[in-house]
Amino acid sequence: MISISPHVKAIPVVDKSSELFESIWHLEGANYNSYLIETTDGFVIVDTAYEMFCPQLEEEIFSEAKPKEIKYIVVNHMEPDHSGCLNHFLSKTGAKVIISQVGKQLFNPPNSIGVKDGDSISIGDITLKFYMIPWVHWPETMITHLIEDDVLFTCDMYGAFGAYPNLEEKEYLYKEMRRYLAAILLRYKPFVLKAHKRIKSINPSIIAPGHGIVLKENKERVWKWYDSWLEGRGEGVTIVYGCMYGKISYAMGKLTEWLRRRGVKVNIHNVADLRWSYAMGDILDSAVVVFGYPTYEADLFPLIKFFLEISMEKNLYQGKDIVVVETHGWGPTLEKFPLDYGYGFSYGPMEDIDVKAVGESILRLLEGR
Ligand code: FEO
Repeated sequence: MISISPHVKAIPVVDKSSELFESIWHLEGANYNSYLIETTDGFVIVDTAYEMFCPQLEEEIFSEAKPKEIKYIVVNHMEPDHSGCLNHFLSKTGAKVIISQVGKQLFNPPNSIGVKDGDSISIGDITLKFYMIPWVHWPETMITHLIEDDVLFTCDMYGAFGAYPNLEEKEYLYKEMRRYLAAILLRYKPFVLKAHKRIKSINPSIIAPGHGIVLKENKERVWKWYDSWLEGRGEGVTIVYGCMYGKISYAMGKLTEWLRRRGVKVNIHNVADLRWSYAMGDILDSAVVVFGYPTYEADLFPLIKFFLEISMEKNLYQGKDIVVVETHGWGPTLEKFPLDYGYGFSYGPMEDIDVKAVGESILRLLEGR
């Protein structure tokens, strides 16, 4: 338990065992942050964690507060990584639940109060004010402002993958926050942008998210990251390729060298590793995205097709330039590529990929910015 303000202690539940989030996205650790607010009229829990962590969370919370002293549980978001222990604590405390009106309509937890945008509730010597941020990342999500300490509990906003046992910044925060944004939140990008602007206008002293770290003096830096990921155009190149027989893999390696020799920043990912959120995070920061693949049964290579399907859902390609490099057996399939592209190259089985021509087209796109 870590004190973050006069009334608030954070309880970072660190998950070191799960290999995937949502059974899709690779994890190298994750935090599910719960918070305990002490007031002159009892305690308030803000968000919990997955059900498997209830015993751990209970031990920490009940070391500070007797069960009957827990008066309210704020549920900013009903996804189980935030609400998995709600029933557990309700059965032990008799607390009231504070949830958004939409959350109440959808899930109707027992003994719950539905709040709307701008509502406040005073509890002892503190006041909680609620702001709705729908579609970040479910329709019922809200954030909660503890006015007296100027702490804003932002739920998934400014969340990050990765483990942060002390809630302090690690060298991997940038990439893990970017990857979390790309994989989890950007399906509803306009709502994320709206929430980001609203939180900046509230300008809290402390930001306490459900994942990742607590932000204080470093909040401005993280806001600049978000500005760039949500509205910037990116720089450099991300290459995503699939390969069956070695030709594309060899050419994409050569292309990477060719571009790097000319000072271009290049990230390269093989879709066969299935660690797609890493590529999606890099795409957010890139100006040009290159797809390389062999055709497969007169269609796109399946793993590229699946990668495109899921990454296009996440609004990753707005403002990016696309280059496609395919090799084909009996027929080209460029016309089936689902995104608009600046340059498309298609090579038959007897042809070598012209790495220089592909590289020069990428440089033209980069220079055109
Ligand atoms: Fe962290 Fe949308 O749950």
